[in-house]
Amino acid sequence: MSDEAVPVADSLAEVLADVRRYLGWHRDVAGEELHAACDGALVSGKAVNVLVTVEGSSTPPVVVEYAEVSAEVASVAEPVSEAPVVVVPPPPGPGAPGISVRAPADSPPAAPVEATVQAPSAGEPPRLDEVRRALGDCKRCKLCSGRKNLVFGVGNPKARLVFVGEGPGAEEDNQGIPFVGAAGQLLTKMIVAMGYTRDEVYICNVVKCRPPGNRNPEPDEIEACQPFLEAQLNAIRPSVIIALGKFAAQTLLRTDTPITRLRGQWREYVGVPLMPTFHPAYLLRNPAEKKAAWTDLQAVMARFPKPGA
Ligand code: URA
Repeated sequence: MSDEAVPVADSLAEVLADVRRYLGWHRDVAGEELHAACDGALVSGKAVNVLVTVEGSSTPPVVVEYAEVSAEVASVAEPVSEAPVVVVPPPPGPGAPGISVRAPADSPPAAPVEATVQAPSAGEPPRLDEVRRALGDCKRCKLCSGRKNLVFGVGNPKARLVFVGEGPGAEEDNQGIPFVGAAGQLLTKMIVAMGYTRDEVYICNVVKCRPPGNRNPEPDEIEACQPFLEAQLNAIRPSVIIALGKFAAQTLLRTDTPITRLRGQWREYVGVPLMPTFHPAYLLRNPAEKKAAWTDLQAVMARFPKPGA
């Protein structure tokens, strides 16, 4: 039981927001409409466990543990939840409220977090801002002639989790920020569903300039940009990389194996665990594949749970 006394209404609202986020992830990412139910049981004295189960999900139930509940529990349930969450309030009890949310006891342990990205040359790895400075007003390939903005990357320079996409589209070229268009909105949902914000992770692309008409990046363009992608990863030293789509996976793994065979299989990029999965733009065109991508993201979350989550 948590020592921190938090108002039950606030805490339960947070829990329900988490449940709603989880259901939303399923709806948006996995393409499934799920229903959640909460059940309460008095376990000892005033302590109460509430089990949140999601029908049709392989995810283990979340146990919400709290003491001292009152009628307000029932009244906070509805306004915070648009998703079909049914809350069965546990029996009321007197005294000061306290609440904690913990992962199920059988959650997989965190894998050892080891960043072993090698520096391309001897000495200290470059910092991300140094990599950006080295890229400069890049004219190393023909993509420079059509770009409005070079799209370097966005997010936490010390992120545990890095997403690598293919290359900027029209909106990314306009704004100079990766994944801000339609595919970006889906990626943002995926990130949030994993329990992160865009600011907490790092997002970048194989090529930093928009291929005209959103065509695929060509081998010479990928080759020109690759040292900078590798330097970015070397500067960040993430715990895990998620390669979004064929170009990210094939470039980082130096393979021409199709993404349909790569996805969902743990690989390594210079010692860093790498999970290839489908590109969000592909998922928008093929919603039936969202389920597979969801499985891949779950594998990442199981091996690398967010610290403190
Ligand atoms: N697709 C990508 O691969 N990257 C972006 O930044 C946007 C769309």
